[in-house]
Amino acid sequence: MARRDPHSYSDDTHPETERLTWKARVDFQTRRLHAEATLTLKEASAGPLDLDTRELDVESVVDGEGRPLSFLVSPPEPILGSRLRVELRPGVKQLTVRYRTSPGASALQWLTPAQTAGGQAPYLFSQCQAIHARSVVPLQDTPRLRIRYEAELTVPRELRAVMAAGFVGREEKGEEAVERYEMPQPIPPYLLAFAVGRLASKELGPRSRVWAEPEVLERAAAEFADVDAMLRAAEALFGPYDWERFDLLTMPPSFPYGGMENPRLTFLTPTLLAGDKSLVSVVAHELAHSWTGNLVTNASAEHFWLNEGFTVFAERRIVEALYGEDVAALHATLGRGALEQTLQHFKEHPQLTCLRTHLTGVDPDEAFSLVPYEKGYLFLRALEDAVGRDAFDGFLRDYLQTHRFQALTTEEFTAFVERRLPGALAKMDAEAYLSRPGIPPGAPTAHSERLAALARFTGQVPSTEDVKDWTPAEWHLYIDRLPARTPRKTLRELDERFHLTRSGNAEVLVAWLTVALRSGWEPAWERAASFLGEVGRMKYLKPLYGALVTSPEGKARARQLFQDYAERYHPIARAAVESILQRA
Ligand code: BES
Ligand code: ZN
Repeated sequence: MARRDPHSYSDDTHPETERLTWKARVDFQTRRLHAEATLTLKEASAGPLDLDTRELDVESVVDGEGRPLSFLVSPPEPILGSRLRVELRPGVKQLTVRYRTSPGASALQWLTPAQTAGGQAPYLFSQCQAIHARSVVPLQDTPRLRIRYEAELTVPRELRAVMAAGFVGREEKGEEAVERYEMPQPIPPYLLAFAVGRLASKELGPRSRVWAEPEVLERAAAEFADVDAMLRAAEALFGPYDWERFDLLTMPPSFPYGGMENPRLTFLTPTLLAGDKSLVSVVAHELAHSWTGNLVTNASAEHFWLNEGFTVFAERRIVEALYGEDVAALHATLGRGALEQTLQHFKEHPQLTCLRTHLTGVDPDEAFSLVPYEKGYLFLRALEDAVGRDAFDGFLRDYLQTHRFQALTTEEFTAFVERRLPGALAKMDAEAYLSRPGIPPGAPTAHSERLAALARFTGQVPSTEDVKDWTPAEWHLYIDRLPARTPRKTLRELDERFHLTRSGNAEVLVAWLTVALRSGWEPAWERAASFLGEVGRMKYLKPLYGALVTSPEGKARARQLFQDYAERYHPIARAAVESILQRA
């Protein structure tokens, strides 16, 4: 027996699943999916087949002819969930599992009408990365393996079901509607995704439309209007787009991430709707995953940087192509600052700040940080500097082409680099990034005239004239560079002059509220409290709750807020805040 992914029961001596046929009825009353998953194996085989499940009630398992197969659901382990072992009879190539999900399924968030923009209908969405697909479908939940699928979702007639797949059709029957989807490209299971709600869509370009609740649709369409230009820029950099469509889904505010690269249908937080396109680099990021992550995939969470480091690199290249070098340099500098902050938090777990991680017994959600993103980005920038941009661009296209629709490990990646760019890894000291904690000395830093101009204001309160052409990213960087405890007088001056507490840009607002809360500046309190009640994006919950708990008074407030709002947060976000409150 060989389990090659520390986060899956799947065993590489067992047959591999080739195809999934999934049928699910969405029951908002009981918050369950009543479902049937048919797995078609690559070859007929006898013996055990181990699948991943979490909190699934398995009712029956039958073969392709409908004859029962014996199975055993093992007691749950905290991180992995329960192993479902099915005994295959000789010649069995297909099996069907009938089951229902738990109301607490870790991949699902069930929203009440009050938690949506329209306030009229309930909403359901999935978030399977890293290892939550198993709470929705019994399968080999490891990114080493890829499946094609077809799916049929039965939902209340007044709702739409959208999936990260190709739309086949909708049929209405009485009070219900059946929506059919098909995913012809093979995907790792963490990219299985769907949402059900009161949804409408608007065309953005020949290959893209945006979905949202009707109340936010126009704002979303205006914000994401550049998506087709992004697609074309990305194809020029990384090669043809392999997924046919790139649609967007604007999520309810409790969505725990900024974006999720679900293939053909990227999920996006509504906090991107700043009104001025200033946060669309997140769209560029999720689009970039179409190559780095979705096409070429990390073999397990231990190699997560192969997904995210490459994607941040690719995102900044798209941003550079569309908005210029200055903007990309600003983003790189913001990223560097955030990485340095993160390293402070990981002082007790230096090993998690290496790119190559070892996660046996560690929950990927707990290990999650900016390190694979920003240190991974620095690794690739250093490699680019070692060989020059032209050579690196050629290497990148070659890497993507060679590994398309495959997964790989860090070790397989470095072996590939060594073959294609001999000596380059040694030249940039790859080991320092991959296997040693912290930021390697000599890591690349960004430079630009605008950055230099901005640096002159560090430690000063600028005048209205000074800031007249500052972009939100420049404001963000300026605020990030304020001392963790800034004198109240300075904060008051800044807010009176620039109304930062009222900023409509979530990045600027959260950076500002974070420093204001840490500095004990009362007027920030009310806006922070209302924001924490509206938004469930973990990137914002963590610093705001984290800033609150730095004072005894703030700690009490944080506890109270969490008591009031926990229900609104996604289970993953709830766990993250809980751990901040516990450690405080
Ligand atoms: N794939 C990630 C989100 C994710 C990572 C979900 C790990 C679950 C587990 C997505 O592409 C992402 O990185 N989102 C970022 C935005 C990005 C611009 C850094 C986010 O959510 O903030
Ligand atoms: Zn990403």
